[in-house]
Parts: sequence; structure tokens; C-alpha cells
Amino acid sequence: MTIKLQAPRGTQDVLPDAQPYWLAVTTAAKQTTKLHGFQRIDTPVFEDAAVFEKGSGDTTDIVEKEMYTFEDRGGDLLALTPEGTPAICRAYLEHGMASWPQPVRLYTTHQMFRYDRPQKGRYRQHTQIDCEVIGSYDALVDAECIALLWEILQRLNLSEIEVRLGSIDDPGPRRAYIERLKDYYRPHLSRLSEDSQRRFERNPLRLLDSKDDRDLEYKEHAPKLVDQLSDAAAAHHAIVCSALESAGIAYRIDPMLVRGLDYYNRTVFEIVPTDDERAQGTLGGGGRYDGLMEILGGPPTGGMGFGSGIERIILEMQKRGATLQPEAHAEVFIVHRAEGGPAAAFRLASQLRRVGRATIVGESGRSMKSQMRSANASGASFAVILGDDELARGAAIVKDLRDGGEQAEVALDAVAARLAAD
Ligand code: HAM
Repeated sequence: MTIKLQAPRGTQDVLPDAQPYWLAVTTAAKQTTKLHGFQRIDTPVFEDAAVFEKGSGDTTDIVEKEMYTFEDRGGDLLALTPEGTPAICRAYLEHGMASWPQPVRLYTTHQMFRYDRPQKGRYRQHTQIDCEVIGSYDALVDAECIALLWEILQRLNLSEIEVRLGSIDDPGPRRAYIERLKDYYRPHLSRLSEDSQRRFERNPLRLLDSKDDRDLEYKEHAPKLVDQLSDAAAAHHAIVCSALESAGIAYRIDPMLVRGLDYYNRTVFEIVPTDDERAQGTLGGGGRYDGLMEILGGPPTGGMGFGSGIERIILEMQKRGATLQPEAHAEVFIVHRAEGGPAAAFRLASQLRRVGRATIVGESGRSMKSQMRSANASGASFAVILGDDELARGAAIVKDLRDGGEQAEVALDAVAARLAAD
């Protein structure tokens, strides 16, 4: 069997050059969530498949078409995490977090797996910043989550973004709306896309989520849920809006925002780049999910959160011209070409690392010239050269590789102290 030397379709290697972007995004997430009182949680890469079948909803695309499900050798049906929310709720129930001070604010960065049609910004493995506030029904928490994602993106200099906000009410009042929606769509059914015809039966709210050209005209004239909210949902929505306004976060009410997961009620939101008309580069989205805990077998518990794709954030940063340089491979590069050189170089390298200097030792057997080329390419600030003459005197040449290129002979035992990190 020949091995295909290619990462699986829809996945990507994050090479060293891309790491500074990942570090910038994960650092922004870590610092901003901390400012909002979130604590980190990590859940497994795979879960019992039922966590998502029930939690995300078995009529969602994520579960119906995209989930990587497999039976392990013990016969358990497992799934690679396609989205974090049900997994974090499972952890909340399993570890009795209801007895912790409420609400519990949790965040993670987690790899997600969806058998999607790969394209730019859409992958089969992606990584999300996932933030969840569990144990609160407070509308201010909704505004806080929106503000949190907004602040993470601002910290990364992504200011040309827009918050799209909606409310899909609670399940009871929503049922009446869905009947009205079906009445509206019924006469046009045969002209809709196949996906929409299926959604009409299985999950009518998602008719509003279609991006198929055949559906757009009907979608535009469909009755709008956000205009007909129940009193409780309308009051909740008004608090979210006024909190965002008070924080200076501009938003646009989007009556078509229904999101692709079944558990949402009331607030739903997405943040998109301002020039992304068809919302294909959504940087993040989420909403309230007060019914999810019960679906998973727990007591009624309010919840609100969002997920944001790190790969998408990075694409947007690059589109906006961010250029982050990879760090130098080392600060000190030891060049050695002498009798006894390798052992002396190896010892010196460990002394330098002990004083906090990232150090690389040149390849034994390569010429001084070739090692010096590697030293320059490594981005190191100093080369320490161990030639025959120096080593015989118990010394080394320390050469500054930055401007000027000054060099001096230093006793071998004094090199580490001389180059110690400040
Ligand atoms: P989602 O909208 O499915 O929501 O995903 C959240 C974000 O993950 C998207 O806005 C996008 O940035 C990124 N994303 C999703 N799918 C892909 C993909 N195939 N390739 C690259 N990036 C992708 C959720 O997953 C919910 N769990 C969010 C949430 C948390 N709701 C409440 N709490």
C-alpha cells in the first residue's frame, strides 16, 4: 500500500511560520476571557455520539451530514467533537458544577471536526475559541458574550467587523411562528432548493438560513420572527440591545439569523467582517441555550455562549495586512570545528540554556563557513565560535551577529555569564 503524503482533505498543517498568528489569537482569547472572569476547561477530542445527537440536535447538518462517528473496539458509538457546547454542558453536569457559584464561565480552544465541503475558511478540522456562561438567564450575560468576542477581535486589530443580532424566541411561541412560516413557504415548495424542501419538513426555521440562489427571493419576503416576539423574549432582547449600546458596540438586527443548531432560544448573534455580505466568513457566532441542559438529562439551567474559528480569524488578520514574524530559532548559535569541539560545544550549550538563552549547536563535521551560514539564518543574536586555537587556550570567540558584528575572545567558563539573559 502506498502512503499518500498529504494531510487529509479539509485539514491543514500549522507550520512554524503560521505559529505567531496562532499565538496572537490564543493569547488574545486568554487575556480577554480572563478580564471577563472565565476559567479554562478542556474536554476530550471525542465524546459519546449521543451527546451531540441529542445536544446539537439530530436534524442539524452538523449531526445529520457532518459528524465523524465511529464505533470503538469495545462497541461504543463515539463522535469526534463537531462543536463544543454540548460537551461542555456534559462536563458541567458530570462534575456537579451546579453547586459552584453561578454562573460558571468557561472557555476553551478546541479542535472541531465536521465532514464539510472544504473551501477557503471552511475545513474538516478547525479550532474554535469556545466561551460558555452556564447557570444564568440574565440578558446582560448575552451582551457580555457578544462584547467578549468583539473585544477579542478588537485586540487583534480587527475593527472592520459587524455584530448581527437576532432573537428566535422561546420554543413555545416559536412553534406558532414556524406554522406561519410553513404556510408562507408551502405554495412555493416545488421551486425551492432540495435542501430547503427537506428543511421544510425536518427543520423549517433553517429555511431562513439558505444561501441557495433559488431560495433567496422567498427568504426575503418571509415573515420575520424578530418582529413578532413574545413579551418575555422582546423584553430580554431590549436589554441585550441597550447593554450593547451602552458599551458602544454597534450591531445590526438580522431577522434572518437562525444559526445552524437546534438548542438556541432568544438571543442569537454572529460577528462578520463588514465586507462579507453573504456571511460566509463568519468570524464567530453563538446564542442562548436555556433548554440544552434538560435535553442532556440535567435540571433547567440557563446558558449562553459562542464559538469563533481561529483559522477564520487568522485569514481575516492576513487579509487586513497583519504580518507577524516567526521568532528567531535561537539566541545563541555555537559554531565548532576543533579537536574536542563537540563535547565543549554541548557543555557550553547546556550552560547557556541554564542562564535562559535559547541555544543551537552547529552540525558536527560541517565547515566553519557552513555553520556560520546556519548561525545567520537562525536569527541568533550571537555566534560562539570554538576553533582549534581558542579551544587550546580554553576560550571562545563571541561574535555579535546584529549590526556591527563585533567580536571578542572570552574564557570558555565566562561565556554563559557574559551572554546570560537580563
Ligand atoms: P458554529 O456557528 O457552528 O457554532 O461555529 C462557530 C464558529 O466556528 C463559526 O462562526 C466559524 O468561525 C467557525 N467554524 C464553524 N465551522 C467551521 C469550519 N468548517 N471551518 C472553519 N471554521 C468553522 C458553534 O459551534 C456553537 N457551538 C457556538 C456556540 C457556543 N453557541 C453557544 N455556545
